[in-house]
Amino acid sequence: MGAMSDARIGTPSAPWLTERQQQLVRESYAHLEPVADAAASIFYFRLFDLDPSVRALFAADMTAQRRNLMQTLGTIVRGIDRLDLLGPSVAALGRRHAGYGVRAKDYETVEVALLDGLEETLGSIFDAETRAAWAAAYRYLSATMQGFAGDIAGGAPAHAPRAGP
Ligand code: HEM
Repeated sequence: MGAMSDARIGTPSAPWLTERQQQLVRESYAHLEPVADAAASIFYFRLFDLDPSVRALFAADMTAQRRNLMQTLGTIVRGIDRLDLLGPSVAALGRRHAGYGVRAKDYETVEVALLDGLEETLGSIFDAETRAAWAAAYRYLSATMQGFAGDIAGGAPAHAPRAGP
């Protein structure tokens, strides 16, 4: 305890998501789970439409990939109130992704594909507040996978290009 005053502080998922955002992610995921495979198809369709060059990083048969993605999302959502506990496994997932050839800009493309895909799948359930909650959850994943979560959690600006060589 102690000098913690921000609304986000006081939960082990601080500073990534407020408790309200955690609740919105959980509630909307409940609608997503029954249509997980279709949701994943919509996501990859959006992704490959936004940037056809990332298609080559994936196997021809996307069946296992769709399952992997939705299972991982499920793990994240179940642990959304304790993101601190997921940190090491998410960081390891990120290191594997570097090995798959995933670049920083791909994380931005995936964010757009994910949020737009969720909107397409969930319709009016996916309102602006829910979208912002998922965006916050994705920022946690993206920063942790790329290894700069500490900078953001500490309040520093997210990796602006640095001057110099
Ligand atoms: C929230 C972010 C992401 C999550 C939760 C996620 C999840 C996963 C999971 C669970 C796997 C299975 C393999 C493993 O566990 O190492 C995987 C593989 C993969 N992901 Fe991601 N991923 C994310 C972001 C991205 C991004 C930004 C890209 C860039 C296009 C990407 C491209 C790939 C590729 C190419 C593979 C390997 C496919 C293969 O081996 O055929 N992922 N991802």
